[in-house]
Amino acid sequence: MTTTELGTVLEFAGVTKAFGGNSVLTDVTLEVRPGFTGLIGPNGAGKTTCLNCVSGYLQPDSGEVRVAGQDVLGRSPAAVARLGVSRTFQTPRLIPNLTAVENVMVGGGRHHRQGHIAELFGLPGARRDEQEQREKARALLETFGLGEHPDRAANQFPIGSQKIVEVARALLNEPVLVLLDEPAAGLGAEDVDTLVEGLNGWLGEHPGAAVMIIEHDLELITRLCPTAAVLHFGRILLTGPPREVLRDPVVVEAYLGAEVAAGD
Ligand SMILES: Nc1ncnc2c1ncn2[C@@H]1O[C@H](COP(=O)(O)OP(=O)(O)OP(=O)(O)O)[C@@H](O)[C@H]1O
Ligand SMILES: [Mg+2]
Repeated sequence: MTTTELGTVLEFAGVTKAFGGNSVLTDVTLEVRPGFTGLIGPNGAGKTTCLNCVSGYLQPDSGEVRVAGQDVLGRSPAAVARLGVSRTFQTPRLIPNLTAVENVMVGGGRHHRQGHIAELFGLPGARRDEQEQREKARALLETFGLGEHPDRAANQFPIGSQKIVEVARALLNEPVLVLLDEPAAGLGAEDVDTLVEGLNGWLGEHPGAAVMIIEHDLELITRLCPTAAVLHFGRILLTGPPREVLRDPVVVEAYLGAEVAAGD
């Protein structure tokens, strides 16, 4: 099956967003299909704001955002999550004294069949659900090379591994759309390889899912993503294969301009 036949998972149509009169997103139009899509651009370009407009943390001022054809505007983060959308945060948000496996299990709320009352009373169905989730969480940790110490407290892991645990958590729920905000930031080369292999392995088993990756690590984007969109001052400059996009003079200029500004 080609990706075109699988259709669009996430759609931005003319999205704008301003904070106190400062335009942060201007007429953002973008289609995200199954597989990996990169969202790149200099610091402050509006990448996280785009992600927040999908996940219900922010509401755009105008335009439309659809997930699998369903309008997400006006929905709370929990309601968007119920559509099958999961995300990670730019800084890891693990529960420090829970174990790695428990932190991954926190991602499992949407598919609990037995509900909270059954859980509260420790009914057999709830225990079975929990056991299934625990096994899935362990398998995901294995996929990401963290299978050795699933019961170690999350805060005992190096920061790179904590970020990978957070990615694993985002995948537990059989999401249709995964939004990763700088998953490789702070990761060493080995951890980046583990992340790439884990994500590739997971997507191989979930070919209908779409994963949008915001990253400054452009090599990771080139390795994983057939398509990347470049955001600059809140506008999409260009969308296409990463190698081509990154050679485009307009994109080179945007990145160089940002570097010069950062050096001022
Ligand atoms: N809640 C907010 N209130 C006011 N301004 C905000 C808010 N969130 C983001 N901004 C501003 O919007 C612009 C875009 O921010 P955003 O975090 O989306 O950029 P980014 O592309 O993710 O950058 P980075 O690569 O540094 O993470 C920035 O100028 C930022 O200061
Ligand atoms: Mg950001």
